[in-house]
Amino acid sequence: MESTFRTENLSVFYGKYEAVKNISLDFPDQSVTALIGPSGCGKSTFLRSLNRMNDEISQATIKGKIWIEGQDINAPDTDVIKLRQKIGMVWQKPNPFYKSIYENIAFGPKYHGIKNKSMLDEIVESSLRKAALWDEVKDRLKQSALSLSGGQQQRLCIARALSVNPGILLLDEPASALDPVSTSKVEELIIELKRELSIVIVTHNMQQAARISDYTAYFYLGTLMEHGDTELIFTNPVNATTQEYISGRFG
Ligand SMILES: Nc1ncnc2c1ncn2[C@@H]1O[C@H](COP(=O)(O)OP(=O)(O)OP(=O)(O)O)[C@@H](O)[C@H]1O
Ligand SMILES: [Mg+2]
Repeated sequence: MESTFRTENLSVFYGKYEAVKNISLDFPDQSVTALIGPSGCGKSTFLRSLNRMNDEISQATIKGKIWIEGQDINAPDTDVIKLRQKIGMVWQKPNPFYKSIYENIAFGPKYHGIKNKSMLDEIVESSLRKAALWDEVKDRLKQSALSLSGGQQQRLCIARALSVNPGILLLDEPASALDPVSTSKVEELIIELKRELSIVIVTHNMQQAARISDYTAYFYLGTLMEHGDTELIFTNPVNATTQEYISGRFG
């Protein structure tokens, strides 16, 4: 089945340096795809290109295509703000705005034109519920987001991404700065969210990739070495370097 979100021969360059080399990868709906591979192999570069975050890096250029619902996201007439509404992103380090918990979530919907207070209240509550944070913050919505713990801040960032109803969520090592309890909350959340979304997650944690992903893509030196069902990749990788990486012998 051809997915509506996919890359086709995608290369990403920093100046002349080709950090991502000719990668064709598809991200089926309602599933989690894990991107794994040693440090510097191009995972974040690839992920950032999927919602044009690389636009912010002046020397970054791309070759090839990224398709969403039949549209080339790099076509000149693409509305990047709308694109990032469809394709949300959460980074390794929680980066809440210097605003209240409420305003962190309401910001995106307001930006997209929702002014009605009760509608905003509803979005704030439902986004926080989806991110499994509501019960912990419902009595302190006016407090600064920075008063939250790291794990709570990360779930807030996930709620913020969800507030504008994306179809796709990009996560770059979202749990690597979190303690085991917060990590398992984020993992449960990802499994829950994939009922509605397509999720692409970069992780260095092999157990995590095995636990939460349906598909795994192994990157090595900018190339896609192997891609397929997570279970198969973890039990029976075709490639020797994949085998070495997942069994922890390098990386
Ligand atoms: N802004 C940038 N300018 C120039 N080169 C960059 C930039 N960002 C990344 N690179 C280079 O591109 C390559 C891929 O980096 P990237 O951050 O995508 O790797 P990664 O797989 O995410 O690594 P890690 O697991 O350490 O996060 C590296 O060689 C890196 O030095
Ligand atoms: Mg990275």
